Amino acid sequence: MNTVKIAVLVSGGGTNLQALIDAEKSGIIKSGKISLVLSSNPNAYALKRAENSGIKTAVVSKKECRSNEDFEEKITSYLDSEKIDLIVLAGFMCILSAEFTNKYKNRIINVHPSLIPSFCGAGYYGLHVHEAALKYGVKVTGATVHFVNEIPDGGKIIMQKAVDVLDNDTPEILQKRVMEQAEWVILPQACEKICLKILNNKLEA
Ligand code: GAR
Repeated sequence: MNTVKIAVLVSGGGTNLQALIDAEKSGIIKSGKISLVLSSNPNAYALKRAENSGIKTAVVSKKECRSNEDFEEKITSYLDSEKIDLIVLAGFMCILSAEFTNKYKNRIINVHPSLIPSFCGAGYYGLHVHEAALKYGVKVTGATVHFVNEIPDGGKIIMQKAVDVLDNDTPEILQKRVMEQAEWVILPQACEKICLKILNNKLEA
């Protein structure tokens, strides 16, 4: 293997996906190639971003699946048919079962918009994370890239970056700052780091 085949799982706007696409184009990601973008939402703008860059797309809508098992089986069949080596969750708003995370042990990473272990776990996603950070009154927040295991946001941390909370921040303003200053920076860096480890057989499978 000389390039890691990456699947990016998305549900929404896909700005983190865009950061990954741009990082591949600029050479920040050089050990991996985004080979599939899979969305849980058929209307996700992320799909358009993938199409614009000529990346293969797939949609697995939870609503159209009989059960969570069925949902994950469908995702697995796309991943396996593309021979995916690394799964990147970039704004993927579904919690994956232990069966799924065990199957891809050390092969799934996620970006979360806070400094884990603050403001993470079930219920903390998207704007809710920043609402909670502002409500608590923290003066520093940030983003975390971590491995995904059976505990929501509970896997080993790969990279973190802190971002200041400013007076008069709204959840929307804070979300944008965290994305610009942290998520779009560390997600591509962490992705390259893990791709390199996979290529060099430095990650337990
Ligand atoms: C990002 O802030 C991402 O960290 C967050 O959702 C947003 C998706 O934006 N993910 C989570 O909260 C997962 N727990 P994007 O679709 O523009 O990348």
